[in-house]
Amino acid sequence: MMFQNKGGKVLFTHSIHAGDYTEDCLDCHHNIEDDETYNCSECHEDTGDEDMPSRADAFHTQCKGCHEELGAGPVECNSCHSL
Ligand code: HEC
Ligand code: HEC
Ligand code: HEC
Ligand code: HEC
Repeated sequence: MMFQNKGGKVLFTHSIHAGDYTEDCLDCHHNIEDDETYNCSECHEDTGDEDMPSRADAFHTQCKGCHEELGAGPVECNSCHSL
């Protein structure tokens, strides 16, 4: 998957992440009310508030959070974003 945004493009290897880096879809697709996996922006809009992080904050927290926790995967801006 390639995300286009103001910080520059971000490549996300969804199937590798979902197959090799974690086994549980719910690690990322949290807060589901049924067995569906929703896009984050179904709930996380461009502008967040104190109850609901924005889409970009949700991504940064989840992506970087796991990389930091596991000590693997990029945490520097330009190791995810490329112009
Ligand atoms: C490491 C985190 C992570 C894991 C694990 C993960 N996903 Fe995702 N998935 C994402 C992100 C991030 C998106 C993009 C959401 C967005 O654009 O709002 C996504 C998108 C999707 C989409 C929408 C794809 C599209 O083309 O619109 C589906 C369906 C999906 N995931 C299913 C799954 C299933 C099934 C699993 C478990 C086998 C899984 N995901 C595991 C993070 C993950
Ligand atoms: C069905 C709605 C829904 C979907 C879909 C959803 N979220 Fe959330 N998310 C929430 C709500 C509600 C909160 C705030 C309450 C909470 O922390 O659970 C939240 C909080 C978060 C937080 C902050 C958690 C914390 O402990 O501070 C992160 C990070 C996050 N979401 C990432 C994501 C990502 C990434 C995706 C897509 C893979 C996603 N969310 C999909 C509803 C959703
Ligand atoms: C559940 C933990 C977890 C989450 C969530 C996660 N990652 Fe990763 N990521 C990893 C691990 C583990 C590696 C592998 C590091 C290695 O083997 O060197 C990795 C590697 C990467 C890499 C290096 C190239 C590759 O694909 O292997 C990129 C880029 C990356 N992640 C981007 C993202 C982005 C963007 C998100 C959020 C949409 C994300 N990651 C969410 C665990 C995670
Ligand atoms: C682990 C990967 C990763 C790292 C590290 C990372 N980002 Fe991001 N960033 C993302 C993802 C994924 C998105 C959301 C993509 C989307 O929705 O298009 C994003 C979104 C953004 C956006 C767009 C925000 C908006 O509101 O549209 C900016 C700007 C940004 N990042 C800047 C940064 C900066 C500055 C750093 C370093 C401090 C950084 N990013 C580190 C993955 C990362």
